[in-house]
Formats: sequence, structure tokens, C-alpha cells
Amino acid sequence: MMDNAMFDESRRDFLKSAGLLTVGAATIPWTVQGFSPNSDTLRVGLVGCGGRGTGAASQALKADKNTVLVAMADIFADHLEESYKNLAAKHGDKVQVPKTQRFVGLDAYRKLLNSGVDVVILASPPAFRPQHMEEAVAAGKHIFTEKPMAVDVPGLKRVLDAARKAREKKLAVVSGFCWRYDFPKRAIFSKIVNGEIGKVTSILNTYNTGPAWQKDRKNEWSDAEFVLRNWPHYTWLSGDSIAEQAVHSLDMMSWALGDKPPVRVFGTGGRQVNTGKELGNIFDHFAIVYEYENGVKGYHYSRKQSGCSNSYLVEVSGTKGHALIDCMKSKHIITPHEGQPWEYRGDKNDMYQTEHDELFASIRKGQPINDGEWMTQSTMLALIGRMVAYTGQTITWEEAWASKEVLVPDNLQWGQTLPAPMAVPGITKLL
Ligand SMILES: NC(=O)c1ccc[n+]([C@@H]2O[C@H](COP(=O)([O-])OP(=O)(O)OC[C@H]3O[C@@H](n4cnc5c(N)ncnc54)[C@H](O)[C@@H]3O)[C@@H](O)[C@H]2O)c1
Repeated sequence: MMDNAMFDESRRDFLKSAGLLTVGAATIPWTVQGFSPNSDTLRVGLVGCGGRGTGAASQALKADKNTVLVAMADIFADHLEESYKNLAAKHGDKVQVPKTQRFVGLDAYRKLLNSGVDVVILASPPAFRPQHMEEAVAAGKHIFTEKPMAVDVPGLKRVLDAARKAREKKLAVVSGFCWRYDFPKRAIFSKIVNGEIGKVTSILNTYNTGPAWQKDRKNEWSDAEFVLRNWPHYTWLSGDSIAEQAVHSLDMMSWALGDKPPVRVFGTGGRQVNTGKELGNIFDHFAIVYEYENGVKGYHYSRKQSGCSNSYLVEVSGTKGHALIDCMKSKHIITPHEGQPWEYRGDKNDMYQTEHDELFASIRKGQPINDGEWMTQSTMLALIGRMVAYTGQTITWEEAWASKEVLVPDNLQWGQTLPAPMAVPGITKLL
């Protein structure tokens, strides 16, 4: 094993040249049995050890031959241990997370940030993202962050601010808006943005699927534990399904329009089928219209009800043609008004892997990717859509951006009762 003092010296040089040197991190000695770090090893920490976080950690370990998972954090020990078991079985020596580096609890992420990691994966429910992002940037970590970026506007502003600080500090911020890392989508959206279907006149986008998973209450769980284990069903935790899932379709709409914000938004939504008292307070359908400056309209439909027809697509109409992006059928077709249709026939990739391949390559090159502005704007499209559905009002972008409503409780405690007020259009106010 390499001598720790020597290791620290050469690692410090490497981190400096890669723009990676962060307070404290480079000098923490590493003494885990069997782990032989070298001067350019990148140490990865995982915050939020659920399905997506475990997948992202796996992709980080495959993205770069010299990455090692060295710390994990979750609020639930059972989630963390399951994830650890799966990752260790799959990646062997690249998973070096001794018990002392497995942090559990509401402040587990903070302990992880202080444990000598270089890159963090933020994959908890979105309610916690602003706090996790802010502290990760303050601690000088490169970040892979899952979407959506926040559940309310004050939280989103914190994320935007943190992403801008990350840019100043030359830290990477790669977002989990995975379609932006998909080769077929990159090909078709670059054609749209470059005018191949003329001027865009309208966009339809859908995310119509079944309901989210739900876990039955256990006697030994406190109310807070039940709620946190069923986070997709609570607006304060997930942002509602338009933010937690359908945001992918809104992100593609935004992409087609060069990531310009709409002027005003109106629409409707409700909770008609998934109404059980153990099912939190989210809506189960949304129909939202986004009006842009030049008269372009974006029409969004999302639904999470079983037994209905499903669709997950974006259709872009332009003055010279039409583009279809069908995520369920993996179809990418441009049909011009004149001439032959085009269909993507190039290489297909695993977009989740590409996110990490490009993240780590950008760190190694010293030119870190920063998705900060557009990832917060795409999240904002979902938040304004939810505000419109909850209040029943037409809301301008400026009014929504001025919202002061904070949904996430301050200083969350396990013993806390967590109310789940139900929005009622026409009565619920924009705060
Ligand atoms: N980009 C995509 O395609 C995609 C796919 C799935 C999920 N996601 C996103 O990834 C995130 C996680 O989703 P998931 O499906 O993995 O959910 P999950 O429930 O499987 O995992 C979330 C994990 O975070 C833990 N957690 C909760 N609060 C925490 C906190 N304060 N600190 C640390 N850990 C905490 C939970 O205990 C759980 O283990 C969500 O934001 C979701 O929208 C993105």
C-alpha cells in the first residue's frame, strides 16, 4: 500500500492540476484495508441510496477506470445496506465503503461531504436537493444531481445560486435530465434548434403512465418515517408528479425552444383516481398550456392512473415540418412538408452511462460541465405548471419566479407530524 504522506503529496498535485483541490479533502489519509489509491483516484460518495442513486453510482464506477466508491449516505439503514450489497457484488474492489463510511440519518449527507470524497451523487428525493447542492458546492465537490432540482421556487433559487458558485469554483454539475445525454435525442433536437422544421409553432408533450409505487404502513414506523418512505406521494417531498417525472417531457419542450422561458401559463389538474388517505396529497393528472413570447404554445399532458392509454412523447410542429420524439417506442422522426422524412439511424447509447462518462471526462480535462441554468429552468416549468393546476389561475413566469412559498419543513425531525394539505383550484392561492 502507498505511504499516506506520499499519497497525499502526489494526490495534492493531481487535484491542483485538475482544478480539484478542495479544503481538507486532499489531506485526509486513507487507510482502508486492500484499497490502493493512487494520485489520480477520484473518490465518489453517494447520497440517497435508492434505485436511481445505486444505478448512478454503478455508472460512475464504470465511467472512469480510476473511480472508487468510498462513502454512502441515506436516512434509512436498510436502503443503504441493500444498495451497498448490490454495488459491492457488481463492482468488487471499486466499492470501498467500510462501516465507518456508511452514514445514516437526516444529517448523513453532511458527514459524507466531510469524509474525503471528490465527486458526489445527489439522488435523494428532490425536497433535499437545495440543501445538498449548496453544501456540496461549499465543500468543493463535483456533483451529479438527479432531477428535479427542487420542489419550490426558493429552493430552486438556492440550486441556481449553488450551480453558479460551482462554475466559479470550476466544479462540475451534471444533471439527471438524462435525455440531454441520449444520442438520438441530441441528433433530432439539434436539427430542430437549427431550423430544419422551420420556425417552431407548437409543441405537444406527454407523460402518461401508471401510479407510483407505494409502501404499506408498519406499526414500528413513526408518521414521518411512513411519509419519507412514501415520498413520491407528497408534494413537499417530490414536487408532485409533474415535477418528479413529467418534468422530462417539459425539459424536451424547453430544449426544442432553445431554453427560453414562457411568458404565461394556464391549465388544469386534479386528483380523481389515486385518492386513498395513505396516498399523500399529489394530483394524478395535469393539462397545462405554456405560452411563449412569439405566440408559440406548448401543450403538456401528464397522468399517473392505471388502466389508461400510456404515452411519453414530444411532437414539435414547425413552419417547414414536424418532429416526433417517442420515448416509449424510441422513434425520432422528422417529416418535412416537402422532401423525404428523416429517421435517426445512428448509434444508440445508454444515456445514464453517458451522463457519467461525460461528467468524469470533463473533470479529468479540467473543463467541468455545468448544467446549472437550463436544469433549473426545466424544473421551473414543472413548478409553474403545478402552481397553475393547484390554484386554477393563469400565472406569468415573473409571478411564479417571485413565489416565496417554502414547502420543505425547516429542521425536519423524526417525531414530527407532517401535514399534507390538498390543493383546491379556485381556493388555493399562489404564495
Ligand atoms: N433521471 C431519471 O431517469 C430518474 C429515474 C428515477 C429517479 N430519478 C430521480 O432520482 C431521485 C431518487 O429517486 P429513486 O427512484 O432512486 O427513489 P428511491 O426512493 O428509490 O431512492 C431515494 C433514496 O433517498 C433516500 N433519502 C431520502 N431522504 C434522504 C435524505 N434527506 N438524505 C439522504 N438520503 C435520503 C431514501 O431513503 C432512498 O433510499 C428522485 O429525484 C427521482 O426523481 C430520476
